[in-house]
Amino acid sequence: MRTMLLTDLTEIFRVRTEKLIDNYITNSGIFPAELKKSLGYSVLNGGKRVRPLLVFAAGLALGGKLENLDAPAVAIELIHSYSLVHDDLPAMDNADLRRGKPSCHTVFGAALAILAGDGLQTLAFQILAEHPCDLSAEQRLQMVQILSAASGISGMVAGQALDILGKVDNLNDLTQLQQLKTGALLTASVKLGMAGANQWDAGLINFADNIGLAFQIQDDLLDLESDTETLGKPQGIDAINKKITYPQLLGAAKSRQKILELTQTALASLQHLGENGALLRAVAEYLLQRKC
Ligand code: IPE
Ligand code: IPE
Ligand code: MG
Ligand code: MG
Ligand code: MG
Repeated sequence: MRTMLLTDLTEIFRVRTEKLIDNYITNSGIFPAELKKSLGYSVLNGGKRVRPLLVFAAGLALGGKLENLDAPAVAIELIHSYSLVHDDLPAMDNADLRRGKPSCHTVFGAALAILAGDGLQTLAFQILAEHPCDLSAEQRLQMVQILSAASGISGMVAGQALDILGKVDNLNDLTQLQQLKTGALLTASVKLGMAGANQWDAGLINFADNIGLAFQIQDDLLDLESDTETLGKPQGIDAINKKITYPQLLGAAKSRQKILELTQTALASLQHLGENGALLRAVAEYLLQRKC
């Protein structure tokens, strides 16, 4: 019964996020039309919306107001979607499928895909600054700090640079790379939720750090073991691109074990929240059994 309720809740947050994004993109005056299409194509395309879910789950766990979590939930999904559009470009991973459809650059060309990514990124910060709700100026500034640090040169962009430079050859450096390229945005999701609730909780950061690393190890495992249709992106592309991954360095069995250990550590960090941590726990459990 409780599991059903939590599943329904996570679905409600997905729908809520998508409605908000739809309003900012589909129902907006963005022009030229090709740019607007490329933006909608890149973000209203069936992502799992894990990062917005974490924003809502963290913010609500600390007593935050739902309306004050909308802007950061949307902003982080826009940043994440931009990172995927650029990640797929021929100059990066050269992937022609994303979320089950041809990648943005395959449909609109590389130039428009670069611009769509740029547009999604800047829109994220505009929304943090402007979205109508009763977030204070201090809270908005804190959100801008969290999101810019996690997505930029001290976070995702640095991780992506390490990834494409291809020099990493050991587990320690790979862990750092994955924490930067993927973990940083997942931890930022929880921090944004906390900023929305105006509460700080170190346990939640520990939760997100562990979930964040587990997330990328699982992404690498799925790339190795799943299939293109289930993933909605090209299976086996890490080997084609000669990427160093956890399964490659540790083997699949130890990688699976590592994901379990990280998730257990993450869940243990929520104990002090009691029932208030139920939604965060549900997200962690969902991530553990995800197939794409
Ligand atoms: C894929 O992220 C890229 C990584 C950081 C591993 P997701 O698995 O969250 O992708 P979507 O948003 O559901 O498509
Ligand atoms: C990408 O990692 C992480 C980003 C910052 C976009 P991957 O290159 O493994 O992500 P997928 O597998 O293409 O989604
Ligand atoms: Mg990549
Ligand atoms: Mg990729
Ligand atoms: Mg991958």
